[in-house]
Amino acid sequence: MRIPWRRVWFLAALVCTAWLATLAPTAAAEPNGVALTPPMGWNDWYSEYCSVSAQLVEQTARDMVADGMAAAGYRYVNIDDCWMARSRDGNGNLVADPTRFPGGIAPVAAYVHSLGLKLGIYEDAGTTTCAGYPGSYGHEAQDAAAFASWGVDYVKYDRCNIPYGDYPGESAQEVDASLYTRMSNALRATGRPIVFSIVDPDPGVDSWTWGRTVGNLWRTTSDIEDNYGSMLSNFEGTVDLSSSAAPGGWNDPDLLQIGNGGSTPIEYRSEFSLWAEMAAPLIASTDVGELTPDALSIYENADVIAVDQDPLGRPGVPIASAGGLWVMTRQLTGGDRSVLLFNSTNTAATITTSAGAAGLRRAPGYSLLNLWTNSVSETGGQISAFVPAHGVAMFRVAPESRRVLRVLAPHTVLSLEPADPQVDAGGTTTVRESFVNQATVAVERLSLSFFAPRGWRVTRLGRTHLKRLAPGHRFTVLYRVTAPATGPPLGVGALAAAAAYDPVVGLSSSSANFGETVSVPVPAPFATADTTGQPASFGASNGSLAISARGSGVFPAYEDEAPSDSYAAIYAPRAAGPSSTAQVTVTWDPSGGTSGAAGLIERNQMTAPAGSGPAVVLYVASNATIEMAWNAAGGPFTDTWIQVPKVYVGYPVTLRLVRNGSSYTGYYSTNRGASWAAVATVTVAPSVSSGAQDVGAFHASGIQAWETTATFEDLIVNGVELR
Ligand code: GAL
Repeated sequence: MRIPWRRVWFLAALVCTAWLATLAPTAAAEPNGVALTPPMGWNDWYSEYCSVSAQLVEQTARDMVADGMAAAGYRYVNIDDCWMARSRDGNGNLVADPTRFPGGIAPVAAYVHSLGLKLGIYEDAGTTTCAGYPGSYGHEAQDAAAFASWGVDYVKYDRCNIPYGDYPGESAQEVDASLYTRMSNALRATGRPIVFSIVDPDPGVDSWTWGRTVGNLWRTTSDIEDNYGSMLSNFEGTVDLSSSAAPGGWNDPDLLQIGNGGSTPIEYRSEFSLWAEMAAPLIASTDVGELTPDALSIYENADVIAVDQDPLGRPGVPIASAGGLWVMTRQLTGGDRSVLLFNSTNTAATITTSAGAAGLRRAPGYSLLNLWTNSVSETGGQISAFVPAHGVAMFRVAPESRRVLRVLAPHTVLSLEPADPQVDAGGTTTVRESFVNQATVAVERLSLSFFAPRGWRVTRLGRTHLKRLAPGHRFTVLYRVTAPATGPPLGVGALAAAAAYDPVVGLSSSSANFGETVSVPVPAPFATADTTGQPASFGASNGSLAISARGSGVFPAYEDEAPSDSYAAIYAPRAAGPSSTAQVTVTWDPSGGTSGAAGLIERNQMTAPAGSGPAVVLYVASNATIEMAWNAAGGPFTDTWIQVPKVYVGYPVTLRLVRNGSSYTGYYSTNRGASWAAVATVTVAPSVSSGAQDVGAFHASGIQAWETTATFEDLIVNGVELR
């Protein structure tokens, strides 16, 4: 489903302090006695969209029992939009789709209950649901009674198509709060305990400010996508709302995507950990019958689930987030803390906090249970980890006596820190390998080693062995490394470190990895431009190009916000005269959001800052459609946009832009130029299409905080190819 392209979700990442954790939530919880811990279960939306059926729901319930998810705590089997027939019956009753739910909902509920699970359903506060099925507006009591009579245990209630015209003078927030209250009261009046899930994340409606007295969970952010950038956005949009949540009512950053394939295993572990630390509902939206063993092991990590479900019900709070390196702490029953170190950046980094900063009481030392490796170690107070890009380290931390500390392995941290995470091909940088002993005892016979890939030159600049490293001390070795002189446009060299040492008992070892980016500089007469305000990387070799960048894309911001168009480009300065042709093949683009893209851009001056916009862009959008946007009115940004309807392309896609004065014709080819289809001929305001323009390949990730790499081939401007 595509949300309107103008909708750009703005996020502010605020830094909270640990004392927030001690504040009790203000409003009383919705008194229906359910969701005392965050709901856990499954929802069909992201694996099935509108093809949900009784058969699928019953099969999923069986799968959840068979694969252990039910035993791990996943209880709610939730049906999303599209379960209904297109209209109500003669008495105004909701009717299930007769083909996909031939017996209605009641037998499905009975079947799910027979397996020890619970059934959820979807409705909408407006006249129709988001997918156009009958909404509950004006039918709240009737629909609630139907749900209860069918045996429904959970209602997800959406906010599409609310008739605001019926409420002149009232804000969307006021209308929504009263409509959700209507359904909440109707559900309560049935006498059946039903979890009420508020889905109202539109800008200007802060449902977390009124959700606690109305429902059991409330969406905090726009729909999640199966990519890291979207997950990060939803995390950042939720993490500062912890004081709204407590037993009975929870912040909902949306359904879990683990298993859907758009993120890496490291990123999916982060999603699960962050949701658990925030006390978010754990609702899997994937085909649970097809999960890989790795995805299943994430969903069934009992220690992380225990954090999410901790009966105290206090969500974690951030105590640091500088530079995208997050530290969160969550108070748990019995005095333990869950400490989460999250590296939201694109390069591995060491993240450090202390037991004191995390809110633990003073003690001789602390045990650290690593919730993803299951290992236990002891620290005198420092808590750190070398965390991969987009990854987490998650510990359950408890104060310990000296007697316990004596039998635990020392907490040590091995890390690699290059002076610069990116070098040019053939360039040299210095890498620091560090080993820190954070335990209460010394480690002995420490030996460090370092590995670089074939083709790299490494010079060691110091000794690598040490007899004894006292508690709280660090041992560092420097290496001078030179990257190979040739390679792909943006290659990654995997640098690795290892340490071996004698702890109290036996021999221990640890390892660390760092992906050093190696770029082949873009050759003249081509140049690079970056209007994102954040670092971008460029590379070109043998006719292949790569651009790694963030950026919200080529569109103005949502509604009346300042223009935020931003992207990075490899371009030919002044090469596109009034009669000119530019062409490029997009070979890969993993961008997301509503405005992620890769394609061709023409602009009077490519390096002009965001807010002065391109004349015209022709690109592959993050939803795999071909689109063209241009500046028709001469204002500060692209103001007009079209999409080639019903065409979804795979890679590679070749794009061609032919300029004729102030009119531009776009073409695309899915067979590398053997045949072409026209996109459109558009007319650009003369003020932004004067003289010879800059032209080239551009990329924007579509989500400000997320850097993605798009690759291209054969950038050709008027017959001159970038080599
Ligand atoms: C959206 C909602 C999604 C899904 C969809 C169904 O508004 O956020 O989670 O329920 O509607 O049409």
